[in-house]
Amino acid sequence: MWDQRYSADEYIYGKDPNEFLANAASNLPKGKILCIAEGEGRNAVYLATHGYEVVAVDSSAVGLEKARKLAQERGVSIETIVADLAEFDIQPDSWDGIVSIFAHLPPATRKQLHTKVVNGLRPGGVLILEAYRPDQLKYKTGGPPNEEFMMTLQSLEEELSGLSFEYAAELDRDVVEGQFHTGKGAVVQLIGRKP
Ligand SMILES: C[S@@+](CC[C@H](N)C(=O)[O-])C[C@H]1O[C@@H](n2cnc3c(N)ncnc32)[C@H](O)[C@@H]1O
Repeated sequence: MWDQRYSADEYIYGKDPNEFLANAASNLPKGKILCIAEGEGRNAVYLATHGYEVVAVDSSAVGLEKARKLAQERGVSIETIVADLAEFDIQPDSWDGIVSIFAHLPPATRKQLHTKVVNGLRPGGVLILEAYRPDQLKYKTGGPPNEEFMMTLQSLEEELSGLSFEYAAELDRDVVEGQFHTGKGAVVQLIGRKP
């Protein structure tokens, strides 16, 4: 499905970074950043233009090809890895930051991934995450069609135990990020640091 969605020339989530990431990025320590479910690369490329060493992972080869093209357009380089996050190995204590923007996965995969995210951060490393909450179903402005793929602050507190949340909020905001995410959105946002 994602390869097909990404096959248009247009960047379906736009070329600009996610708004929350752009506002929160200064919390990321300089160094190696892993962007999970990164799609067409808008967030990875933004971070690379700000001096980070970025690796973008996604199961869509078509999305990541566009990510590399965007990086070239902006005069930066990023590493891309085509992988299923259900199987992707995150080496413990190896990332200064991990970025997860609208990474909606089946619950079992998500929980396992979040454990790997906590382990994968170095001490002092930071996770920046934004995702739709189940309330998003009433807005019908994007995101998965099923509640169990969405996240709440409570579910994230459990799944990401081991991180200290420096900012965490559930809010409704105008999400204007390409044709598939446009309109009022119910989101959860967090900045979590590994002590
Ligand atoms: C809503 S898009 C978000 C893309 C990007 N984070 C952004 O904000 O522009 C969700 C992404 O998750 C990826 N994805 C879905 N299931 C995946 C899986 N099991 N492993 C890796 N990537 C996956 C899709 O290919 C898609 O690029």
